[in-house]
Amino acid sequence: PAGSPQSNARAEFVVVANRLPVDLERSADGTQRWTQSPGGLVSALEPFLRSRKGAWVGWPGVPDVEVDEFTDDSLVLHPVALTSEDVRDYYEGFSNATLWPLYHDVVARPIFDRGWWESYVRVNRRFAEASAAVAGEGATVWVQDYQLQLVPSMLRELRPDLRIGFFLHIPFPPVELFMQMPWRAEIVRGLIGADLVGFHRPGGAQNFLWLARQLIGLEPSRGSVGVRSRPGMVQVGDRTVRVGAFPISIDAAGLDTLARTKAVADRAAQVRADLGNPDTILLGVDRLDYTKGIDLRLQAFHELLQEGRVKPENVTFVQLATPSRERVEHYQQMRSEIEQMVGRINGEFARVGRPVVHYLHQSVNRTELAAFFTAADVMVVTPLRDGMNLVCKEYVACRHDLGGALVLSEFAGAAAELSSAFLVNPHDLDGVKNALEQAITLDPAEGRRRMRALRRQVLTHDVDRWARSFLEALGSETAA
Ligand code: ADP
Ligand code: G6P
Repeated sequence: PAGSPQSNARAEFVVVANRLPVDLERSADGTQRWTQSPGGLVSALEPFLRSRKGAWVGWPGVPDVEVDEFTDDSLVLHPVALTSEDVRDYYEGFSNATLWPLYHDVVARPIFDRGWWESYVRVNRRFAEASAAVAGEGATVWVQDYQLQLVPSMLRELRPDLRIGFFLHIPFPPVELFMQMPWRAEIVRGLIGADLVGFHRPGGAQNFLWLARQLIGLEPSRGSVGVRSRPGMVQVGDRTVRVGAFPISIDAAGLDTLARTKAVADRAAQVRADLGNPDTILLGVDRLDYTKGIDLRLQAFHELLQEGRVKPENVTFVQLATPSRERVEHYQQMRSEIEQMVGRINGEFARVGRPVVHYLHQSVNRTELAAFFTAADVMVVTPLRDGMNLVCKEYVACRHDLGGALVLSEFAGAAAELSSAFLVNPHDLDGVKNALEQAITLDPAEGRRRMRALRRQVLTHDVDRWARSFLEALGSETAA
């Protein structure tokens, strides 16, 4: 980003998210630079917001820094500062050790800590105040994700003139699990401050409507919620709150174009050669998160090798894992388990100069990522639970050659749209192994048929369509 100071002109369209689309990176020698923030929320929203020339309110990704607002191309960024205590209690604590595991089907045990909750309330208020200061009269403010669930109501109190949308990028849990939350009614009240509350799947919307009745005595509509159309409704005083399902997506055309460049094709060939030109490359690309099922896919691969169903000289596994939430204990545990597994598999099956698992605990840039997708014969996406999962859609968008195969967990939101993938239950290890074997030995004509169907879905349902359908339902945009 250029870092130029910005005038105080108030914005007509504001996105509020825990993170800015860019992260401030400070190195030991005191120099700093901005890099793209990790995760699907930023991958999805950034291209859309740039074309919209909106404002973005968020945290610059490091504690205890005050950064003035600045413009980055056409985007105006408004940093919200977090102290080290805020990061510990609001971000690592309540957001990522309470809400994240609770909303992902308690695949890890959520920790309920009153001090963390108080910090969550305080920081949500800070985001609400920052947004109120940025938004122009009657502006649309679109609040994002589980870190900011109290912002809609807090912002409405400060600025009743605004049109407020909220979108949850992670799954909304079954009601039995949500009911564990000591501050469950406060969270539902926080969300209900929006004019439109959006989830990936109709089930999430339905769960939320049920909770609005049970926990705060509202009277939601009874009809079932559809994807994009037919939102549910709740009357809150004189306001009607809509509750709907809007499956998020990617900048599919942008990736398709990138994947067709010579730079990507050359780099993909180079990657294959560097790996020793194996017959089959399996690929995993994730934030290093325990919800992603990285351990499960490694275990499945290990057993296939042990049973001789896969030959180490023919098949190579590449796992790219972006470092994530490294100070949270669940993440530290997962990392050491995965690294041990990688070591064990290579210990048994590698030859000198030829590991069978290549593990990179690194983030790579878009061109490099597109090259890995292009080089991979089998994309392995096995989360235990995932709101959507964009990686699988990115893989499909890169395969204009109709090559490759996708093994995808049923428990990713994307499975509802990508029915031509090899769908697996990640808890069923034999099922995962069978699907991997099928994908490795796939008949090319059958592979092309499947990939064509996947591409039809992904290329016609891109992030722009997602954003437009949300904003239309919010009433801040007329149908295109
Ligand atoms: P989440 O939001 O939970 O991280 P998603 O699959 O929805 O999961 O989005 C992840 C985003 O991060 C995708 O855009 C993906 O390309 C990107 N990503 C994941 N791992 C890496 C990596 N090692 N290097 C670069 N980008 C990555
Ligand atoms: C997921 C969440 C985002 C989050 C991202 C990266 O995509 O839905 O809200 O920003 O993961 O996680 P981090 O904790 O690094 O922001």
